[in-house]
Amino acid sequence: MAIATVQAAAGRSRPSAPSDDKRWRQVDVRMRRLGYRPDGLIEALHTAQEAFGYLDDEALTYVGESMGVAPSKAYGVATFYSHFMLKPQGEHTCVVCAGTACYINGAAGLLGAIEGKLGVEPGETTPDNKISVLKARCFGCCSMAPVVMVDGEVHGTITPPELVTLLEDL
Ligand code: FES
Repeated sequence: MAIATVQAAAGRSRPSAPSDDKRWRQVDVRMRRLGYRPDGLIEALHTAQEAFGYLDDEALTYVGESMGVAPSKAYGVATFYSHFMLKPQGEHTCVVCAGTACYINGAAGLLGAIEGKLGVEPGETTPDNKISVLKARCFGCCSMAPVVMVDGEVHGTITPPELVTLLEDL
């Protein structure tokens, strides 16, 4: 997909988001907080992976260029660290927020329910490749804690049984 450029506040041109998928907003907020600086690349890639479940070429290019590094460098970083995933693992992605507000409000119970139901921990995919489970630090909607994002859709104030039902219905 062609990436149009917009003028960054710092004077450097930055790409615009690859699509209007709302998850890019979450990535954009994080990159802005990191000052679009190259030393924030790993954090920005983490946020993109948390949002999308993995990093594809489009994400690596967009995040890399936004943070002022070449796509080849972003790709190099993503392949160096084993916790970055470059392909969709499961058919569905369930990301559990383990940020402070969500942790206090029961994120551990949600992770426990997932492990009990699916037998997988964050960073793993069910053996049938149906669901990948990931952990995030904060989705920016702490008032709804605990929060999970299933296939990019936020589910707030969710209980372990509700989450299990949600996953069963996938
Ligand atoms: S800590 Fe979970 S959304 Fe902020």
